[in-house]
Amino acid sequence: MTEHVKIFDTTLRDGEQAPGFSMTSGQKLRMAEALEGLGVDVIEAGFAAASPGDFDAIQKIAETIKDSTICSLARCNTGDIRASGEAIKPAKSGRIHTFIATSPLHREFKLKMSKDEIVRRAVEGIELARSYTDDVEFSCEDAIRTERDYLKRVVEAAIKAGATTINIPDTVGYTTPEEIQDLFQFLTTEIDGGDKAIFSAHCHDDLGLAVANSLAAVRGGARQVECALNGIGERAGNCATEEVVMALNTRKDFFGLTTGIKTEGIYAASKLLATITGNPVPRNKAIVGKNAFAHESGIHQHGVLANRETYEIMRPEDVGVSTDNLVLGKHSGRAALKARATKLGFELSDNQLQSVFVSFKELADAKKEVFDADLEALIMGEAVGTQGPWKIDSLYVSAGSDDNRSPQATVKLTHESGETKEAVSEAAGPVNAVFLAISDITGHPLHLESFTVQSVSEGKDAMAEAAVRVSTEFENYHGRGASTDTVLAGAKAYLDVINRIERRAVRQASIAAQH
Ligand code: KIV
Ligand code: ZN
Repeated sequence: MTEHVKIFDTTLRDGEQAPGFSMTSGQKLRMAEALEGLGVDVIEAGFAAASPGDFDAIQKIAETIKDSTICSLARCNTGDIRASGEAIKPAKSGRIHTFIATSPLHREFKLKMSKDEIVRRAVEGIELARSYTDDVEFSCEDAIRTERDYLKRVVEAAIKAGATTINIPDTVGYTTPEEIQDLFQFLTTEIDGGDKAIFSAHCHDDLGLAVANSLAAVRGGARQVECALNGIGERAGNCATEEVVMALNTRKDFFGLTTGIKTEGIYAASKLLATITGNPVPRNKAIVGKNAFAHESGIHQHGVLANRETYEIMRPEDVGVSTDNLVLGKHSGRAALKARATKLGFELSDNQLQSVFVSFKELADAKKEVFDADLEALIMGEAVGTQGPWKIDSLYVSAGSDDNRSPQATVKLTHESGETKEAVSEAAGPVNAVFLAISDITGHPLHLESFTVQSVSEGKDAMAEAAVRVSTEFENYHGRGASTDTVLAGAKAYLDVINRIERRAVRQASIAAQH
């Protein structure tokens, strides 16, 4: 039987903790469902002790997800481990991942602890974690820069204390494929009790080697890889889930190993993450970038038409990228829309289908041909939140190069209470004028950090997807919106944030009223 490599996805922990990638509890749950759908073995859902929000998100994910193990990260201390133990309690299968640094630099300057003290803390932490679950992972932070004999000592003590997975992180992205393969060969063959644990690789991408190093670790005996969708994570990120999975899959002849990932869901999951976090995937990103399966040069096109394999080592449909791109028109019905959505990797509930269908009809009126990318943008809008309380009734902008006149926006919004308000604003640019008018009406003066817009399909009537990043005195938010009109897409993205702030205030008020 072919051996299995576990996929431990840390999109919601290492990924989410990177600046610009934070998610709300609801968004994390939505991502966890996508990861479960992909078939990842373990979802690292967060760091329970980091904040009440993180605890809450892990608990909700643990209550909902049934097919993946739900894991929480904890430092080797009582408070962290207890918080993790409580957060994963509802899970059908729950894991605590506890860690302590072992390298000389971390021992001396960060922890100020002796080697013996670190071993003691690791053992105590693992024993406490075992009182919550039999599934305990232990990581030696900065393992790669740890002396081999000491690493061996810590790992042996950890296994003896009950750790069932031993993770060897390249915390600072320093190692090379040959070095890490050799280290895993050493650990998996020389550690006393090594047969009682699964060895895991956790590689960062500071030198752009995270995927190569993870694959080399697998060659050396690792049977779990820690990774994150789109390669997100601390600094330059983590090993990209889609890349390591497709490498193992495409080169099964070389690695002789399998994963449990349903690869056809990869593209939709990657796109969902990009939409939720407001960080678009670069065009040339392996596996999930827009160009990953595009053939532009005549020589390549000629080859692909004769036989796809001349220039394609994977089939686009294997990762959920559709090739029959032209889809629906304004006469298409609900069944066709649902079938196409399923093909793109989205399971729509009846309610979601209904509201996507309404938006689809509007779009089909505005634009002759609806492409898969357009449809994705609509569905993502549903997934990420086009809910109220505010809706755009009308928007009109005037702009141009006249030195004597500033761009002006007239915006009319309706609140779900029935109230309609209008504002007229001037600013240096038309989009800013729109944002100002929306802030005026809703009473939310937001600071705009960034505004990006990209077209999701081709042609003059292409859909535009806008993303805004804004901040208040206390928090950062991102919002998104899609429309065939760029300014309207921007307005929707800005209003998406305000709606989110208002919905959250309502929720908080109702919780406060219950206490
Ligand atoms: O990079 C790292 O060392 C980590 C550990 C907490 C596993 O993320
Ligand atoms: Zn990490």
